[in-house]
Amino acid sequence: MTTPALPTDRGRTITVTGIDGAGKSTLANRLHQALNEAGHTTILVGKRSTDVPMDAGLSAYVDRLNDLVYRRDARVARACGDHYWLLALASWYTLQHQLVIQPALAAGTHVLLDNAHHKILARYAVNPGVSTRLAEQVFAHLPEPDLVIFLQISAAEALARKGSFTSLETGHSGAADEDFIHYQDAVLAQLRTYEQAGGWLSLDVTDMDRDHVFKTAATALAERLHLHL
Ligand SMILES: Nc1ncnc2c1ncn2[C@@H]1O[C@H](COP(=O)(O)OP(=O)(O)O)[C@@H](O)[C@H]1O
Ligand SMILES: [Mg+2]
Repeated sequence: MTTPALPTDRGRTITVTGIDGAGKSTLANRLHQALNEAGHTTILVGKRSTDVPMDAGLSAYVDRLNDLVYRRDARVARACGDHYWLLALASWYTLQHQLVIQPALAAGTHVLLDNAHHKILARYAVNPGVSTRLAEQVFAHLPEPDLVIFLQISAAEALARKGSFTSLETGHSGAADEDFIHYQDAVLAQLRTYEQAGGWLSLDVTDMDRDHVFKTAATALAERLHLHL
């Protein structure tokens, strides 16, 4: 006889947010490895992940969507326009939630999401060409993660870490360093407004090396979610 899983048996969702170059992927990869090594079965969901467990057909479909959303050239990106990309990104998050994240949580598997949709919301909030309300609405059905780790760093420091950037990372405002800095600082200011409402774990990572960021996040996982690494 099988009993349905109790809510406490559900997996937890942990996500990272922050501007481009803040160190989200670096931290998410490290946490993913450490959680599994500690015996907490965890999947990492990011823009390269296409695996729908035990379903080759759905995996192939997700791969095609990833292709359309993330593997397009700059000319296509510009031609399609901001409203299309908002809806395309909302499709991607909706599908990952439906096909990958929800089933994993129900099976007791934890989910690390690199990264949350908050950065997209922040990007659209500073874009006068798209209604902020529309952007909020198309992500409104996604549940809030159990823990949001907000990596705070100035755009200038993030640029120093990254070295280079894409047109998208300047909000298509130009190709100079100042364009990246101006745009990303506006996105950062917007993310800070969400932080205040959301109970996020906020870390100023400016002077923190990778180990320090990881250890601080690991402490928060233990304290807030009782996941010990
Ligand atoms: N704590 C850190 N200190 C210094 N450099 C870092 C740190 N974390 C990440 N990096 C480096 O900064 C760059 C951007 O990191 P990445 O994780 O790709 O950021 P994001 O996913 O937020 O865009 C990479 O070259 C990465 O190796
Ligand atoms: Mg990244």
